[in-house]
Amino acid sequence: MAYLQHELMKYVLGGRLRFAPLVDPKMILDIGTGTGQWPIELCGVPPNVQFVIDDADEDDWLYAHDTFDYIHTRFLLGSFGNFAEVIKKGFNYTKPGGWMESQEIMSTVYCDDATMPPDWPFLDWTRIGDEASMRAGKPMRIANKLKRWFLEAGFVDVHEEVFKMPMNPWPKDPHYKYIGRISELNWLDGLQAFTLASFHRILGWNQKEIEAYLVPVRRAIRDRSVHAYHKAHVPLVPQTILPDGKQVCGVGPQALPGRSRTIPGDRDDHGCDVIGYHDADRDIDTDGGADAVE
Ligand SMILES: C[S@@+](CC[C@H](N)C(=O)[O-])C[C@H]1O[C@@H](n2cnc3c(N)ncnc32)[C@H](O)[C@@H]1O
Repeated sequence: MAYLQHELMKYVLGGRLRFAPLVDPKMILDIGTGTGQWPIELCGVPPNVQFVIDDADEDDWLYAHDTFDYIHTRFLLGSFGNFAEVIKKGFNYTKPGGWMESQEIMSTVYCDDATMPPDWPFLDWTRIGDEASMRAGKPMRIANKLKRWFLEAGFVDVHEEVFKMPMNPWPKDPHYKYIGRISELNWLDGLQAFTLASFHRILGWNQKEIEAYLVPVRRAIRDRSVHAYHKAHVPLVPQTILPDGKQVCGVGPQALPGRSRTIPGDRDDHGCDVIGYHDADRDIDTDGGADAVE
């Protein structure tokens, strides 16, 4: 599941792990790193990559302010009570001239051609999942607010790209068809895990109720007649305020290649340190709740 999500997001971003144009970075932080596939692919294996257990919700992180050249988050919807606060902390822990980038999926399901009926089972599942996350105090609908939160945190020159991720291979376009194919596999593979944690723990459904409920949801995921998709939001910003208060010119990526289909996966081979941050309490869950994306 985690592997599929990783490949899916990479493909959606044109084969890239990041957009930030890093030049000889020394310290990178991946908040909520999960399996650590992202930092390992970016920078290799230990000692270049260290995994640190800490709660990013805490006021103080384990590092000094202005430590990181680049802070990255991905798939952290439903992980934090106040993601805006995490971004504010990110601002403080990013070096002047450094970058912060989020790659987050909106839990809302979209459709542009009225093929999605209002009682579509997957839509219902999304609504109930969102309600559960709100009750738990960890909202999932964060992606479309990221740009505003980056700006409110003090970042300037926030550049945001939004990518469409079809639910299944309904599109004709081969690029989107391929995204849909991985997406469908990911949803079918992960649906039970995505559901059990929140529907059982927060809403009190029992396993039998959940299994029965998921039957039409699985059918909906495979339904090519419904042209549904999700959106991935990728705000990216340089932390441009210098210690003396001057601003570096707000350089963003000149041409974001996410829309291109031919960008090869890239890799930083400059021996930077990557820190993968995760929360041990959540990772020891055995029912799959820890890594539930939706
Ligand atoms: C869905 S996974 C995302 C994995 C990874 N970012 C990726 O893209 O594959 C969410 C991760 O966030 C971590 N997490 C959740 N709350 C956290 C917190 N308060 N502090 C640090 N990590 C947290 C969980 O432990 C889990 O590893």
